[in-house]
Amino acid sequence: MNFYIMTLFPEMVMDVLNTSILKRAMDKGIITAKAINIRDYASNKHNKVDDYTYGGGAGMLMQAQPIYDCYNAILKEIRENDPEANPRVIYVTPQGSVFSQEKARELSSDNDIIFLCGHYEGIDERVLEEIVTDYISIGDYVLTGGELPAMVMIDAVARLVPGVLNNDESAETESFDDGLLEYPQYSRPEIWNDKKVPSVLLSGNHQNVEVWRFQKSLERTKERRPELYEKYVEEHPDQFTAKVIKKRNKILDKIDE
Ligand code: ADE
Repeated sequence: MNFYIMTLFPEMVMDVLNTSILKRAMDKGIITAKAINIRDYASNKHNKVDDYTYGGGAGMLMQAQPIYDCYNAILKEIRENDPEANPRVIYVTPQGSVFSQEKARELSSDNDIIFLCGHYEGIDERVLEEIVTDYISIGDYVLTGGELPAMVMIDAVARLVPGVLNNDESAETESFDDGLLEYPQYSRPEIWNDKKVPSVLLSGNHQNVEVWRFQKSLERTKERRPELYEKYVEEHPDQFTAKVIKKRNKILDKIDE
């Protein structure tokens, strides 16, 4: 999978992507990431890429032409390998739909994704209309630029690409995959700061461990993310019939924490 990031700060992006798990995935050739400096496509001698906003208002706007030329250079490169390619262009903006694990999963099956990172007061609307396929935000707050959001999305998407994570880092059972938050986990030592690891986890009884973990996931989700809990209950009525709850409680009653 190939990520292309159109940005005014390519070093910032590559410094982050060139570390840890993403770096390992790039070394293995599973993913590639390329940050392209929009300023390299400025057509004036001062390499200026911003200008005043028509109609007035504070702040500068990124101009259409350098972004459009930068995009076309990337598209040309992608189409050298795949002449039919029609890559997604994601403009990272607080005005987009909010990013989620579901969106990350959807994006993880693309071959090429282009991110457009804005700065200043925004980008000339005409180039957005021309090239952008998806408007995505990482949450309801405003950052100084699109680089951090693009990196957040790339990290979340890349780890779902087969081969990026090792078995022991597996993306299989974790928060959001089934709509619940993950259960609490413990490692050695058995007692730390007078706190004991729940004894069910030392019991070797796999069914009990599974029921206990499921219960903890339910409780944690209900407490921390009540809206996710409600959705889960609605979508999994089979888990909340009187019979199933009774069976679960019978096992939980036997478990000594
Ligand atoms: N650019 C600035 N703030 C942002 C946000 N919350 N999400 C995506 N892009 C942004």
